Amino acid sequence: MRFLTRGGRSPKPRASLRRHRAARPLLLGLSLLFVGTLYAALTPAAPSSAEGATDQQLVAQGKNLFAVNCASCHGLNAEGLAQQGAPSLTNVGAAAVDFQVRTGRMPMANPLAQAPRKENVFTDDEIAALAAYVASLGDGPGIPTEDQYNPAGLSPEDVARGGELFRTNCSACHNFKGAGGALPNGLVAPSLQESTPREVYEALRTGPGQMPVFAPGAVPDEDVKSIIGYLEQVNATPSAGLTLGGLGPVSEGFWAWVVGIGGLVLFAVWIASRGARA
Ligand code: HEC
Ligand code: HEC
Repeated sequence: MRFLTRGGRSPKPRASLRRHRAARPLLLGLSLLFVGTLYAALTPAAPSSAEGATDQQLVAQGKNLFAVNCASCHGLNAEGLAQQGAPSLTNVGAAAVDFQVRTGRMPMANPLAQAPRKENVFTDDEIAALAAYVASLGDGPGIPTEDQYNPAGLSPEDVARGGELFRTNCSACHNFKGAGGALPNGLVAPSLQESTPREVYEALRTGPGQMPVFAPGAVPDEDVKSIIGYLEQVNATPSAGLTLGGLGPVSEGFWAWVVGIGGLVLFAVWIASRGARA
């Protein structure tokens, strides 16, 4: 920027520019204005509703991603393909897509088996596009906002209530610590140890696979948050010693009996055998 430095060694600015002290800042301002106008003129016309247009772009991008990654099973218009066992997605909503893709369940590798949780292969933007496309097809729960699922700030009472709600509504399938469990017909209710708060919220509202839907009428948002708070607490607490997969105090007590009494029996047998020899 030698041009801008004042003083004898820099090349002499043109006389016309030197005439006024404000000339340089003014020139700079004018060039900025010129570049700005040029930029505005060359970029595509801004739509009247910027948000509406980005939505449309997102939906279009999602439709393309869907055609490549999902249509082979769900059909080109997400109408579902019976021969693939893949359901129609017209009314599943953005939350179902967000959940299924984020947890790596979709795209499925084997449509005949229960979709397992696996590595997600899409970026956040791609998931948003897929979700926007499916949401554009019909009704269904939207992607929750953070204040709907973030359990930060819950009181210990809220979390305790979440534990109660979990035992009433979820533990029959997922076990009382969310460790997961077997269901009839070879299906499993997965462990919830890796589930993020957002995924738990979405699972409740969309009911993946054999899981029932828990609608806001039955389990309002603040109850969902309490359940999430409980799960976060359980997942954060390192289990002390041998937990047997969090099978619970009943079965842990049972194993204590088996091992404890078994040990005593063995000891008695050993004593008896010594007595017999003597
Ligand atoms: C190999 C076949 C296959 C592919 C590919 C596939 N799906 Fe699926 N999808 C299925 C089947 C089968 C189910 C039902 C399984 C279930 O409910 O657990 C399903 C279920 C879903 C659901 C849950 C619907 C509901 O009722 O809640 C969503 C959402 C979904 N798929 C989205 C997608 C998206 C998005 C893609 C592409 C990224 C995709 N799927 C790719 C076979 C497939
Ligand atoms: C009838 C049994 C059943 C009940 C009750 C149930 N679930 Fe589920 N849940 C399932 C099954 C089965 C799946 C796996 C779905 C699939 O095949 O993709 C699942 C999946 C989930 C997942 C996704 C786990 C992952 O892989 O990240 C979450 C989170 C979840 N359930 C939370 C809950 C909560 C919280 C409740 C109680 C409000 C609940 N579930 C009640 C059966 C159940």
